Amino acid sequence: MAASPEPIHEFFAAAIPGTERALCDELRELGFASVRLNRGGVPFRGAWREGWRACLESRIAQRIQLLVARFPAPTQDALYTGIKAIDWSPYITHRQTLSVNAVCRSNQINHSGFAALKVKDAIVDQVREQTQQRPSVDREDADVRIFMHLANDKAAVYLDVSGGALHRRGYRTETGDAPLRETLAAAILRLSGWDRKSLLVDPMCGSGTIAIEAAMWSANIAPGLTRERFGFERWANFDEEKAEALRILRGELRRAASGTSARIVASDIDPEVLGAAKANARAAGVRLTFKQRDVLNLQGDGQKGLVVTNPPYGVRLEKAPNFCQRVGGVFSRMHGWRVCILAGSPDYLRDISAKPKYAVPLTNGDLKCEFLTYDMK
Ligand SMILES: C[S@@+](CC[C@H](N)C(=O)[O-])C[C@H]1O[C@@H](n2cnc3c(N)ncnc32)[C@H](O)[C@@H]1O
Repeated sequence: MAASPEPIHEFFAAAIPGTERALCDELRELGFASVRLNRGGVPFRGAWREGWRACLESRIAQRIQLLVARFPAPTQDALYTGIKAIDWSPYITHRQTLSVNAVCRSNQINHSGFAALKVKDAIVDQVREQTQQRPSVDREDADVRIFMHLANDKAAVYLDVSGGALHRRGYRTETGDAPLRETLAAAILRLSGWDRKSLLVDPMCGSGTIAIEAAMWSANIAPGLTRERFGFERWANFDEEKAEALRILRGELRRAASGTSARIVASDIDPEVLGAAKANARAAGVRLTFKQRDVLNLQGDGQKGLVVTNPPYGVRLEKAPNFCQRVGGVFSRMHGWRVCILAGSPDYLRDISAKPKYAVPLTNGDLKCEFLTYDMK
């Protein structure tokens, strides 16, 4: 008898605002199915293993979520009944802890905290009726994290497959000032148009995030391999068979890494942050060329390559008059180079002779930035 086909699920890869298109390109390149560009992230479809694979392979997604149900929820009773109609037993028994995060927009139920409480009550009641014991809530580190979006009186209920934000790869043990999220660094590398083979330089590398992400991408090292545990590994249905399937998947991804990467140079003026960058690169298992150097001494040296960098901004610049303009001057002498800047300040533009080829608005934490790409003549 032929094996019955595996059920297909709908997943949602959440993105940092402004990185949705880069994430969509990445997921298509990684071979995920039914990938669509949406505001806030990218839905895709696949068997359960595809959700795991996205956690392990996506460099840009902030989270991977599994859609468990969509239903009309115009009233509190309808919300409670709809949540209780979902079979929670594959995910939660009385042994798992849970947390619920709700976002409400344009509904009759318009209080997020209240909606989250209703969802939690319905799940706890179901588990208690089935097992006579109740699961506990853990707001900090729950085994099962539930996200509910309630918009126009319709509920969409998701489980957090990744379990915490995916930018926490596990390799960055030391940071400098204002470190970039690893997922944002991966997104700007893709937006830069880098071919993963040419020389790449970050002359203000801080804790090395851009350079390390570039080396991992170039060597095809799956970013999730350095992470200890994902959310789905804490669900009730994660049994020995699934654990073995995950070990096999991790092994396949490990073997797919090439072991060699493009030449990547990471430099910074501060020897202490350079030390942190070296430690992080070691933990990530990548080789970079490190230099202690003032960006104002950077030169093209007759070579061609790419600069991708995230210069200091705001308060840090008050002690360095005209720094942005001088850096702009240095970059505009890098003839034949592509220079990509994640700029938190428009000042960087002032002394760059070229017009940006692309300008993409992004957010870096709470800061609104622009990612600017210049081709220097
Ligand atoms: C915003 S941080 C970069 C953060 C980095 N992307 C990360 O993820 O950690 C800016 C960096 O520029 C460095 N910097 C400041 N002035 C510099 C200069 N004149 N030359 C080289 N690096 C400089 C700082 O030491 C700091 O590490």
